[in-house]
Amino acid sequence: MHHYSVVAPLFAVVLLAGDALSRRTEPDLSFAESVYAKMSGACRAIMDLRYNDLTDQNHQIKTIKIVQLDGNTVRTYPINEAFVNLTKPGIFDITKQTKIIIHGYKDSSQSAVPLDLANAYNDKKMFNVLLVDAEEMNKDGYILSAHNSRLIGKRLANLLANLEHFGANAEDFHLLGISLGAHVAGWAGKYFQQYKARSLGRITGLDPAGPCFSYAYSGQRLDKTDAAYVDVLHSNRLLQGIIEPLGHADFYINGGGPNQPGCYMPSCSHLRAAHVYIESIKVPKSFIGVRCKSWKHFQSNACEKEEYAVLGYGSSTATRGHYYLRTSPKPPYGLGMDGIKNKEPVTDNWLKSLDDLNM
Ligand SMILES: *[C@@H]1O[C@H](CO)[C@@H](O)[C@H](O)[C@H]1NC(C)=O
Repeated sequence: MHHYSVVAPLFAVVLLAGDALSRRTEPDLSFAESVYAKMSGACRAIMDLRYNDLTDQNHQIKTIKIVQLDGNTVRTYPINEAFVNLTKPGIFDITKQTKIIIHGYKDSSQSAVPLDLANAYNDKKMFNVLLVDAEEMNKDGYILSAHNSRLIGKRLANLLANLEHFGANAEDFHLLGISLGAHVAGWAGKYFQQYKARSLGRITGLDPAGPCFSYAYSGQRLDKTDAAYVDVLHSNRLLQGIIEPLGHADFYINGGGPNQPGCYMPSCSHLRAAHVYIESIKVPKSFIGVRCKSWKHFQSNACEKEEYAVLGYGSSTATRGHYYLRTSPKPPYGLGMDGIKNKEPVTDNWLKSLDDLNM
């Protein structure tokens, strides 16, 4: 589609402008945000054209794979065979919770971050662990991939509805989406509700993708209505991550970004949410957030209430609101209760991050 070639460079301009702004000590994001909103709107208009264009996506959807980690065994199923294979005796345990990990743009189930996340759960030996692999539908232009997130989510919802019919509980499904994968999870939640008239248990958005999705209606992106509990980690707001809060609980890591301490590239900050989540599985309660109005309030120790919430693995599904915390600039990231004290002002300043690394 020739439209992509027009919008992609415009996004690049916005992203660079955002990057430059974020490196100032007092970032004024309002201009970049308003440009971002316009770009996202244009992007969605193209996505909608595309959606009406394409009636038969079967050849692409068939390329989706489900990868199951089961102890030392890895089983890979084409999506169209996944249900039949998973429901063979001894393969899928309907009494367990199921963790479903969804990768992002230009990524696959076999890259480090989704695989580390899946392995961290697999090591607990308590869960069914599945990875969605939609590499073929995420390897071309960003807008096309953003559009495909809906098709992938719809197909995934169909599999989950069948597994529920087989005896699994909807509330035992926990989808974890990285970047664009967060919106795939959102669509899966929306379609699951259409198919079964009930909600999936939980969706975790790991810095949900921003371009095309920031300032979209709740029906066009991940939203808190997509599961019984939706928790979102923000680490690269304004650049690759979504700008607005989406969940029942939104956790702003070091203010939510755009820059994370110890990071020099937006992609590093963007993936920090997933790295933090992975650490929360291995070291429970290493990340605690405090409920606060804004990062500025947090930084000036002006959070109104002493309301704390565990981020990630141990997160209570009753958590509501916006939570802020600091992390270490390098692993292990978790600071426990120290992360809610604003000892040293962690700013979005790039140079400050260099100091943190003693470089
Ligand atoms: C899935 O089931 C088919 C048909 O029974 C079988 O041939 C195939 O080996 C199974 N795949 C896996 C990964 O177990």
